[in-house]
Amino acid sequence: MWIVRKGLSLVRGGGAAVLAAALGLTIALPPEAHGGVIPAPAEIKLAAGEFGVDSTVVLRVPPGDAGAANAAHYLADLWSRTNGLNLPVRADHARAALRTIEFRRRPGFQREAYEIDVTPPRITVSASSSAGLFYGAVTLWQLLPPGAAAGEIRAQTLTDRPGYAWRGLMLDSARHFQSPAFVKSMIDWMAWHKLNVLHWHLTDDQGWRLEIRRYPRLTAVGAWRIPASVPGAPAPKPYGGYYTQAEVRSIVAFATARHVQIVPEIDMPGHAQAAVDAYPELGAIDGHPSVPVSSDWGVNPYLFNLEPSTFAFLRNVLDEVLQLFPSHFVHIGGDEAVKNQWKSSASVQARALQLGIKDADALQTYFTQQISAYLSAKGRRAVGWDEILQPGLARDAVVMSWHGTAGARAAAIRGNDAILAPDPGLYFDHRQSPLAGEPPGRLIVLSLKDVYDFEPHDAALTQAQQGHVLGLQAELWSEHIRTEERLEWMALPRAAAVAEVGWSLRPKNWADFLQRLPSMMARYRAFNLHYADSAFGIAPEFSAEQGKIRVTLENLPELRDAVPDAGIRYTLDGSNPSPASARFGDPLALAAGTELRAATFIGSQQVSRTWSSRLTPLLGVRRSSHQLELCSNAVGLLLDPADETQREPVAVDIMNPCWIYRGADLREGARITAAVAPLPFNYQLGADAARIRVGDARTPEGELEVHIDGCDTPAVTLLPLAPAATRAGVTVLPAQVLPANLAGRHDVCLRFARPRLNPLWALDWVQIGE
Ligand code: ACM
Repeated sequence: MWIVRKGLSLVRGGGAAVLAAALGLTIALPPEAHGGVIPAPAEIKLAAGEFGVDSTVVLRVPPGDAGAANAAHYLADLWSRTNGLNLPVRADHARAALRTIEFRRRPGFQREAYEIDVTPPRITVSASSSAGLFYGAVTLWQLLPPGAAAGEIRAQTLTDRPGYAWRGLMLDSARHFQSPAFVKSMIDWMAWHKLNVLHWHLTDDQGWRLEIRRYPRLTAVGAWRIPASVPGAPAPKPYGGYYTQAEVRSIVAFATARHVQIVPEIDMPGHAQAAVDAYPELGAIDGHPSVPVSSDWGVNPYLFNLEPSTFAFLRNVLDEVLQLFPSHFVHIGGDEAVKNQWKSSASVQARALQLGIKDADALQTYFTQQISAYLSAKGRRAVGWDEILQPGLARDAVVMSWHGTAGARAAAIRGNDAILAPDPGLYFDHRQSPLAGEPPGRLIVLSLKDVYDFEPHDAALTQAQQGHVLGLQAELWSEHIRTEERLEWMALPRAAAVAEVGWSLRPKNWADFLQRLPSMMARYRAFNLHYADSAFGIAPEFSAEQGKIRVTLENLPELRDAVPDAGIRYTLDGSNPSPASARFGDPLALAAGTELRAATFIGSQQVSRTWSSRLTPLLGVRRSSHQLELCSNAVGLLLDPADETQREPVAVDIMNPCWIYRGADLREGARITAAVAPLPFNYQLGADAARIRVGDARTPEGELEVHIDGCDTPAVTLLPLAPAATRAGVTVLPAQVLPANLAGRHDVCLRFARPRLNPLWALDWVQIGE
């Protein structure tokens, strides 16, 4: 996933949205048309009357039908949580009393399909499969708005079935570890969105997270790493954790009850460093030197070797994996296996000669064949990242397309099944807006609308070939997502967009989706989920204006253009905004000390969290790193300074730590103050590392260079980094007066000169003024 992108612009146009709005394509549907449900159901036929939901209603299931009982109890639990409504579930043949919700088996539905028939005395949920009954329950939950313990559901016949069979999320538990309780919570909210595959990335260079009884060192050693730190900082405590087999069994049972299939991933032949630390004889360096579990991000060089004993190890590991995970599919990785170690190892080359294999890529094909054949013999199917797509790939192997969608197309043409998991289109480690408040991740924005607009249908494929595309999934890579709260933010509500793309058979309608979202967000709140409200967020801009602070507040274009009824309301007296508060229009000039509070509303409904700012003159002259323009974005990241997860992360291109402050007022005597942070340079970039400028420092610790009107003009001022060099976290460097001959507004380029790669320096904020 470590692609150095060149020349990619940070700015995204609202052009498509504007055009769509002009063509009338984003007009919202009336709520009856979709029932407020995400993903939107295939068809709703409204009828007269309504069914009153209150505490006298009984849920009824056929006696002995465990699947129906599971669905009914799930519905009861959800309504209890979001509506405080506690309904009994009864399994009997008693003549239906008035006002029941009945779960019924009926032949003729396809897998996961269901029907909900709402009449004034009775609701009937029908399906052939337990999954269908379960999804009927989930939809019915959403037909009642969250909140009150009583309400009405409009009489209707709702029929629904999925567009794609594979609707997934990948969770990376290797780079950062999540608690079993978090994994269960995630499975729960996946089920609410009818997402049915959790691809669980359990092993990587940075940690082996699955207990394997036969090889205890995989977790005793391989589950722990010493995190990277800046030079000179105290050594951090070991980081890690793993899932015991008992925990995995409990998680799998929890998932099965929610019709979520867990597809475990054991990554091979690359991404093997943690395993090689545990058992060096598995590695591909002759002499098997010891190597620590990695604390670097990127593409590490450690591979498994091709000895028969190593394949025996992998088969033994897979035997335990198959015992734990009933999934028909088992993911065997295959990504980013850089072959240098195989090429330089005399014993790997000797083995290749024995096997009659001439080049290193063909060795990976051999590797994949060995493992996928083993899985096939056990009645399972191998899934691998798109690098496995080589001549000789078994027909039953599934290709997971992450280099865009080209791998899926090629696989489908070849006759292999495929899954769409493209980078960056469905990589949820990207931030989802340019607003402040986004947690660390990749800097290029993957907005909710970008995800919603993802198009899985490939018109270049024949009908038969399209049948090989099983579905899609989004990836939660966790290098930069260190906490469970942040994972929820990165996943929600973008997972809702994936669900709609993967499930719904209706034409997409962004404006309509946006208007169904606030109810879903209320449900997230009922479960204390830390979802992102970025799509409804507020972009503030401040500048100094004659002793006052000029403030502009705007929503993002993808909301403004789609929902004319959306707007920002604000207060100046410290109270929270309400639907009666003034609507923000033209910029305001406000006195320092004012407390400005604002929130986004659609009609009278508040849809964003409340934003607030105590105005100070500093706001007019200070810019944080993500309010500045980056000089480049080859590998742009938002990163935590030191271990401070409470602080706003810094925006930096790790290939070129350089920022531009546009139009700074450099009047006589202007001073520059900068807050900087050293960050560990823990990135494996291969040959790209040589493109990073280092060695240009004038002092032992380096300097922040200030350039005017371009980055290659001679530096006018230097801020030495020595005061910050021995401290983790953010340090404010002593202010410097800028040269006196610079009157007027200028673009100021700020760039670090450093003696060596580590540490990487980041600018937290800069202030230019008197
Ligand atoms: C990947 O991002 N390495 C599949």
